[in-house]
Amino acid sequence: MTARGRAFVRHWTRIERPALVPEIRLHLAGALMPLWEATARDAGDPELPPPYWAFAWAGGQALARHVLDHPELVRGRRVLDLATGSGLCAIAAALAGAREVRGVDIDPLAIAAVGINAPLNDVHVAAACRDLLDEPAPDVDVILAGDIGYEWNLATRGARWLRSAAAQGIEVRIGDPERHHLPPEGLEVLEAHDVPTSLDLEQTTSKHTTVLRVMGGAAG
Ligand SMILES: C[S@@+](CC[C@H](N)C(=O)[O-])C[C@H]1O[C@@H](n2cnc3c(N)ncnc32)[C@H](O)[C@@H]1O
Repeated sequence: MTARGRAFVRHWTRIERPALVPEIRLHLAGALMPLWEATARDAGDPELPPPYWAFAWAGGQALARHVLDHPELVRGRRVLDLATGSGLCAIAAALAGAREVRGVDIDPLAIAAVGINAPLNDVHVAAACRDLLDEPAPDVDVILAGDIGYEWNLATRGARWLRSAAAQGIEVRIGDPERHHLPPEGLEVLEAHDVPTSLDLEQTTSKHTTVLRVMGGAAG
């Protein structure tokens, strides 16, 4: 990602610790609308999706907490963080001892954010602006997907792709604050957290969030 993207991320954020994972520091935004408008202005595209990379979403926080509390899931293994956003789950995996960590997202500013947030936590994450969901699952041991259930298209495409990855023997975990778009088949609830959230972002101060294991027998 360009120096310009990184400068944009720095300008619009401040360093904070997500409530559920205070071990991790991230460049995060206080309010959604001013940043969304600035991002759309900068890109010259009024239809631009929200700047997801600037927030530690409830699903990502619960999943990052799960990884830090269960380092054996990733220790010495190759990890992909799908829809990495700020890089929160990828950074948690690296801190928990993963051998290699990749993060992918379709938003170039997310890649810029990961490029700043990973070194802030003294870890390396190889971040790429890619949509992998029409490709075979990559050669990794673990896939993390924080908060991908917020819109129908990503939730259904993502769930299908993750189920097929799990069927190949990859350990797959999703963090989902009950966004209701994820098809429930083949998902095992491992734990739940009440994640503090902002009224500005979620219209509530807490989101009940589950960490789900995608079961390997349910490919399709
Ligand atoms: C709600 S954010 C979650 C970010 C992070 N995982 C977290 O929990 O804080 C969802 C992210 O999915 C990304 N995204 C949407 N469609 C995608 C796709 N097909 N492949 C990869 N990332 C995608 C968005 O750009 C956004 O950064």
